[in-house]
Amino acid sequence: MPKSKKIEQIFEGATYGDFLFRPQFSVVKSRRDVDLTMPLTRNIRLNVPIVGANMDTVTREKMMKTLSLEGCFGFLDRNCSIVEQAARVKHVKRQHSFVIENPIMIPRKNTVADAGKILESQNISTLLVEEGPGSGTLAGILTHRDLLAAQGKESEPLERFMTPFRKLVTASPNISMNNAENMMLEERIEKLPLINKNRKITGLITMRDLRLAKQKPYSTKDKKGRLMVGAAIGAAGDYMERADALVSAGVDCVLMDVAHSHSDIVKVAVKKFKSKFKSMDLICGNVATKEGAKFLMDLGADGIKVGIGPGRGCRTRLEVGAGVPQLQAVREAYLAVQGRVPIIADGGVGNDKDIALAILSGASTVMLGSMLSGTDESPGIVIEDPSTRRKVKMYRGMTSAEAVIDNFLKRDPEDVLTNSQAQEGQSVTVPYVGSVTDVIKRIKDHLRSAVSYAGEKDLYGAHKKVSSNPADYFIRLSDASRKESFER
Ligand code: XMP
Repeated sequence: MPKSKKIEQIFEGATYGDFLFRPQFSVVKSRRDVDLTMPLTRNIRLNVPIVGANMDTVTREKMMKTLSLEGCFGFLDRNCSIVEQAARVKHVKRQHSFVIENPIMIPRKNTVADAGKILESQNISTLLVEEGPGSGTLAGILTHRDLLAAQGKESEPLERFMTPFRKLVTASPNISMNNAENMMLEERIEKLPLINKNRKITGLITMRDLRLAKQKPYSTKDKKGRLMVGAAIGAAGDYMERADALVSAGVDCVLMDVAHSHSDIVKVAVKKFKSKFKSMDLICGNVATKEGAKFLMDLGADGIKVGIGPGRGCRTRLEVGAGVPQLQAVREAYLAVQGRVPIIADGGVGNDKDIALAILSGASTVMLGSMLSGTDESPGIVIEDPSTRRKVKMYRGMTSAEAVIDNFLKRDPEDVLTNSQAQEGQSVTVPYVGSVTDVIKRIKDHLRSAVSYAGEKDLYGAHKKVSSNPADYFIRLSDASRKESFER
């Protein structure tokens, strides 16, 4: 096993504002064609190396779904019950796959009001209607439009308003994507239920999902064409129960997220997790030193999350004094593992160029919190800052007083009084910036440009070249050159 190298002098005490990289002869013909694929773990690759932070103001189902659709990834936070988190995993796994494997069903004798509640709570437009409760036998389809026609008749059985089985076009479970599309175009239908010989429902195909699959071939999908989903667990208490529920719900990658992961607690927890879930990818973090990264690699982590205290909602460095400047931390971790385990640079990204700098220093992907939190897809509402009249959203560290109290309140209001935890996080407001899809597009464009300036054809090539010899490419800035570069 190669011995970890000593960190280069330019990285000592360094973070994002400290560097530029030297422009190289460009070999890129069209920036649009620059490939940005990077590994998230030993087994999962992302077409866009961006990961949504497991925070309750960043990554819930809407964000998770959009990030995976756009070729990125994310982790659902654990500031909720096990049941809620597992339900979120299931929800995303049902979105935009070629075949929705467990479509939501409702018995034909249920009321219009029952159907309305399900459509609203699940944020879907169509329900498959089954003959008897739990029978799974297709009786019809009920859409949002049918419900409009049933207004004022909420207590009546929904079967009166559905399209009945005899009028439906259906297909067998093993229909190909092309045949399904042709059939739906010919029949001018948007939904195609799949049934077996006994009329039992095995899935549902929607035209919208077929179109999306064509428009976005770069989405992060599993072998069955379903969006991939990540979720976070801790390393103490009910973490194995949570892991069990997430795995049963179909999670694709688990993140064991502990503020200080270079610890005995994590050692025990990783061993337990790995002995039970042998084929599940496990990312561990956070660490910020070469010793910490090597420790997690030796435990068998499939990805290592690096960053202690750089985040926008973090107060660890201010309150405790512990931490490592983020690019030094990334570099230490990279030199310790030397490409054997992918590194996720977590926290502190304020500009798109920081993402390029992290990847050129040795990270494979970058986790974003605040940069994604002002979007339509993050949880929470858009508010107007009364002093500036600007639109903003709330972003809070997961150990901020607000997040901690919320969590205790949900479990047991008494807990709030008996648990006083030292806060190492804070809440801030972030500007509202619209859709996360636009943010990702902008990041992709800037990363492609960075690849061109780095003199490579793809991001992986730029990462390999620069991170194997950064002193040849990186320029450490003086106060004056930092001013010249970044002050506008
Ligand atoms: P950015 O800078 O992208 O950082 O907003 C996101 C990362 O911040 C970390 N995080 C915390 N760190 N106290 C901390 O010290 C907290 O309460 C807290 N909440 C989130 C986390 O690593 C996240 O991905």
